[in-house]
Amino acid sequence: MMISYRLGNDVGVDAVIDVYRSSTLGSRPLDDREAMAKMIQAANLMVTAWDGERLVGVARSLTDFCFCTYLSDLAVRREYQRQGIGRELMRRTQKAGLSATVFLFAAPDAVAYYEHVGLTAGSGWMLTRLQKLR
Ligand SMILES: CC(C)(COP(=O)(O)OP(=O)(O)OC[C@H]1O[C@@H](n2cnc3c(N)ncnc32)[C@H](O)[C@@H]1OP(=O)(O)O)[C@@H](O)C(=O)NCCC(=O)NCCS
Repeated sequence: MMISYRLGNDVGVDAVIDVYRSSTLGSRPLDDREAMAKMIQAANLMVTAWDGERLVGVARSLTDFCFCTYLSDLAVRREYQRQGIGRELMRRTQKAGLSATVFLFAAPDAVAYYEHVGLTAGSGWMLTRLQKLR
């Protein structure tokens, strides 16, 4: 199978939602098309994987192209998993971010994956929309 990779967020919102659903990437507002469109539009580093004209993988990040890249969403269509697409999406994300450090929060099921491909676990902290600073 020939997979090609593209850079940029000019990707249809429905196709992205479909990949997220198929990959089982939860905790994204998949039922809110407007929010998803905003997330795609605001992403300044997006790498996508394609089987012909079919979107099969997405790496959606925000980066300053210098110090840090926040890799928010990494998803590969279920039937395309375990073929190296996720690793290639991350490799291209690191490169396109001009080697800024890539940070992410792993979903519980993906912890072993990130360990396996060689990421370092650090101490991540978050302030969710429901939390207030004390
Ligand atoms: C996590 C995910 C992006 C990985 O993508 P992928 O294309 O299947 O992964 P790759 O094929 O690049 O895997 C690279 C290596 O990791 C291994 N691997 C894949 N999934 C793994 C897992 N869950 N646990 C441990 N190792 C894993 C592969 O076997 C491969 O090993 P090898 O190179 O030694 O043979 C994909 O499984 C996915 O979309 N999962 C659901 C959504 C999700 O959890 N995303 C992460 C949110 S933080």
